[in-house]
Parts: sequence; C-alpha cells; structure tokens
Amino acid sequence: MFALSSSIASLVLVMALAEKPALVSSQPEQPYGAISLPSRSLLTNIDGSFNHEKAILFNAATTIKYHRNLKNLQKNNGGVLPAGMKIIDMPRARIQAREVQRQDEESLTDENDDSEWAGTIAIGNPKQKFLVDFDTGSSDLWIPSSLCSSTSCSSKSEYDANSSSTSQIETGTFSIQYGDDSSVSGPIYTDTVSVAGVNVQNQTFSAVTNLSSLFASDPVDGVFGLGFPSISNLQANPFFINAVQHHAVSAQEFSFYIATNNSELYIGGTNPEFYDGPIEYHTVDNSNGFWQVKHASISVGERIAYSDFDTIIDSGTTIMYGPPDMVKAIYDKVEGAEVFDSDEGFYSFPCDNVPEISFTWGGECFTISPDNFNLGQTSANASTCAGALAAKDLGLGNTTMLLGDSWMKNAYHVFSLDRNAVGFAKLK
Ligand SMILES: *[C@@H]1O[C@H](CO)[C@@H](O)[C@H](O)[C@H]1NC(C)=O
Ligand SMILES: *[C@@H]1O[C@H](CO)[C@@H](O)[C@H](O)[C@H]1NC(C)=O
Ligand SMILES: *[C@@H]1O[C@H](CO)[C@@H](O)[C@H](O)[C@H]1NC(C)=O
Ligand SMILES: *[C@@H]1O[C@H](CO)[C@@H](O)[C@H](O)[C@H]1NC(C)=O
Ligand SMILES: *[C@@H]1O[C@H](CO)[C@@H](O)[C@H](O)[C@H]1NC(C)=O
Ligand SMILES: *[C@@H]1O[C@H](CO)[C@@H](O)[C@H](O)[C@H]1NC(C)=O
Repeated sequence: MFALSSSIASLVLVMALAEKPALVSSQPEQPYGAISLPSRSLLTNIDGSFNHEKAILFNAATTIKYHRNLKNLQKNNGGVLPAGMKIIDMPRARIQAREVQRQDEESLTDENDDSEWAGTIAIGNPKQKFLVDFDTGSSDLWIPSSLCSSTSCSSKSEYDANSSSTSQIETGTFSIQYGDDSSVSGPIYTDTVSVAGVNVQNQTFSAVTNLSSLFASDPVDGVFGLGFPSISNLQANPFFINAVQHHAVSAQEFSFYIATNNSELYIGGTNPEFYDGPIEYHTVDNSNGFWQVKHASISVGERIAYSDFDTIIDSGTTIMYGPPDMVKAIYDKVEGAEVFDSDEGFYSFPCDNVPEISFTWGGECFTISPDNFNLGQTSANASTCAGALAAKDLGLGNTTMLLGDSWMKNAYHVFSLDRNAVGFAKLK
C-alpha cells in the first residue's frame, strides 16, 4: 500500500520539485535546513523538587502513544503483532491523565512552559502555519481543522482546506480513540507541506475535527511524525520519507540537537555547530516502525548493568522507560536506590550521589549528565531525588528501552534513511 502510493507520487513529483525550495529565502536568519525548537519542558519544579504529577501525566501520554503505535503496527501487519510485543491497556492511565491535566493546566499556561518539542511548519498554498511536535516515535501528521468543534481546538491554529489551492480531500478517516468518548479524528487530505525550506507536495495528513481534551493545554497544534510507515494510522508515507523519495532534500537524513534551550532540528543533513568528532552510525531495525537500535549496553559508573538490549530513540518522549525487570536490574547497581512510586515505576537515589549512567552501542560511551538524569527531590527539601529512567511495560518487549529527551540531550543524533541508521556524536 505504501509502496504503491509513493511510487505514483514520485512519478508526478520528481520533475516538479526544485532542489532548494523557496521558503529558505524567507528565513535568512537560519541556515538552510535548520528549524529552531522552543525550550523543553522539565519535570523539575523551580524549587528543585520533582514534578510528580506532571510526570504521571507524561507516563500516561507515553502509554497511550505506544498503545496506539502498536495498534497501528498490528493493523498494518495483517492483524499480527511481532513476537514479544503486546498492546497495553490504557483506560486507567487515561483517567489519571485527565485528572492531572486539569490540575496542571494553569501552571503550564502561566509558566508558558512548552511541553513538547515544537517548531513551525507550513501547509498549503498560500501557507498556513502550525506549531508541531517533531516526533521520531510516531508516523502521522495531524493538525486541527477549521471545522473542528471541540473546545480543545479553540486556542490552536486550524487548517482551512478551502483556502488552499493545492488541498485535496482523500477518502477515509483518521481516528485515534482514547478509550472513552474522546478521540483525535478527522478527514484526510493531501497538500504541500513545507518544513525548514523543504517542500513536499501531496503529503498525506489529517485535519482533525475532534480533538480530545487531553490536548487542550498542549502548546503545540499537532504532531509531525518522523517514524516509519508501518506505525502510520494514515497508512501513508511520513513527510521525510516522501522528501527523500522526491529528492527534495540533498542528504537523506535529519538531525536533532536537543537541549533545555536553543534546540534544533536540521532537515537534510547535520549541523557541525553542535557536535565534535565522528558520527557513530548504528543500523536501525525499522521493521516495527521505530528508529530502533540493537545491541545497547548500559553502565552505572564503571559497572555494566545490562547488555545487548534494544533502544528506540523517541524525540516525542520526555524521559526514559524500560521493562520493569530490566530497570530494576539497573537501579540494583545504584547505591542507595529504591522504588519511590511503584505504580508509575519511579525510583529514587540520594541527591548527593547522582548515578553516572552511560550507554554504548559498541563504540563510544555516552554518559548522561547528572542534570539530565536527576529529575529533582522527591519532595521539597528531601535528600532523595527521582531518576529519569522509569520502569514501565509499554508492550515493546522485555528487552527494549525507550529513550526520550533525558537521553537525547547527551549526544547529537542523526536519523539517516540512506544508511538506515541512527548516528550518535559527542556534543561540542
Ligand atoms: C498531486 O497534487 C497535484 C495538484 O493538486 C495533482 O494534480 C496530482 O494529481 C497529485 N498527485 C497525486 C499522485 O495525488
Ligand atoms: C469548504 O466549502 C464548502 C462549501 O462552502 C463547505 O461545505 C465545506 O465545509 C468547506 N470546507 C472547509 C474545510 O471549510
Ligand atoms: C467526534 O465527536 C463527536 C461529538 O462531538 C462524536 O459524535 C463523533 O463520534 C466523534 N467522531 C469520532 C470519529 O470519534
Ligand atoms: C533557558 O531559558 C530560560 C528562559 O529564557 C532561562 O531561565 C534558563 O536559565 C535557560 N536554561 C538554560 C539551561 O540555559
Ligand atoms: C525547606 O527548607 C527551607 C530552607 O531551609 C525552608 O524555608 C522551607 O520551609 C523548607 N520546606 C519544607 C517543605 O520543609
Ligand atoms: C523475555 O521474554 C522471553 C519470552 O517472551 C523469555 O524467553 C526471556 O527470558 C525474557 N527475558 C527477560 C530478560 O526477561
């Protein structure tokens, strides 16, 4: 299905696309291909304590996300889930997410605290702009529609298909159900999508007319998937795969520099401003739809805590998650570590002795800085702190870890389609 639609699209588009599209000239302050991303939300309060409620909300969001990813994978895989994977129930997490979100809403707004990686994309002709979460852990593009009647849409930019001369409605409906009455759903369109000077025509996306209250306080309008087609709900090629197939980018890779402030996504190459030395590439197994790198090993200080496991690199997730047995084995090596919230899988350790956690995929060793591993004191003035690695079964298999922001801040990341690899490089 993907191969068919994309080969038709490339026949049409190969001639139409310029190598260096026009949007570049309207953003002269940015190097070609770069898009700056707003500040990243932290799970640490201003007083240095761990924002436990927000962390529970983020855990719920991650559980829902992988529930949905695996449902899409199953659907696209003839109804069968790959061995070792299972779809985790989400109702309980869903209810919690709602309650916490209400409490948290005000503080999120007051602090103008962007809770996801976001940057601006344009859709249509003339261009309509949207703030999106650039997400390597999902594969669909969706933004709100001008026909959206949900109150969650009121604060967001909305796509008006009628005012874009290049918009085309497609058959079918995009729909993500959240267990109860709530959903993210709407009609499917194709239109021209532009990101950081790279234009893709006839990109499939959904303009959603129902937007779950889960997204009401989210600062972004929608999600921009950078994963592989097998987890696409739209059963369409994501933007970057189309950009590569249509020769709209000079290099078949995009790169993330992630920091608390001044983060950057670079489409079609790497930005040497942010890294030093060689880029170490590791082959990706994309059969499950993810940027999944095998043969990782994790150390606590000098001691190897777990070897030969898989890692999924997810720019749309805040912390790191692993299967409970594996995470326990890791914290067993951390002096003074104990379970701090068993329901949510959080562990603590003495604040004056933040563990030095590092990963290797067979080459260099990349260490997580204490600031990135320590989520803050378990309560105001406590002497124990919460760790950025949580124990949670997301259904990804008993030896797969999900590495979000807390990991990604410690290396420059290159997501390469032509090498079918993720590259890690030391930060400058
Ligand atoms: C792409 O969009 C153009 C302009 O709307 C249209 O003429 C063409 O048929 C589309 N191609 C495909 C493959 O949908
Ligand atoms: C576009 O215009 C038609 C006719 O006025 C209307 O029925 C339709 O709802 C509009 N669609 C959108 C997306 O605004
Ligand atoms: C969208 O929301 C309306 C209520 O506002 C509901 O009737 C409809 O079933 C929802 N659609 C989907 C696909 O969830
Ligand atoms: C990030 O920016 C915020 C607001 O501009 C500032 O308060 C904070 O110190 C910055 N953080 C870092 C790590 O530079
Ligand atoms: C934490 O310590 C500060 C200064 O030592 C004190 O003012 C504050 O009341 C303490 N907070 C709690 C919750 O104990
Ligand atoms: C993972 O699950 C498989 C069966 O699915 C089992 O054989 C294996 O021992 C488990 N590994 C760990 C580390 O729990």
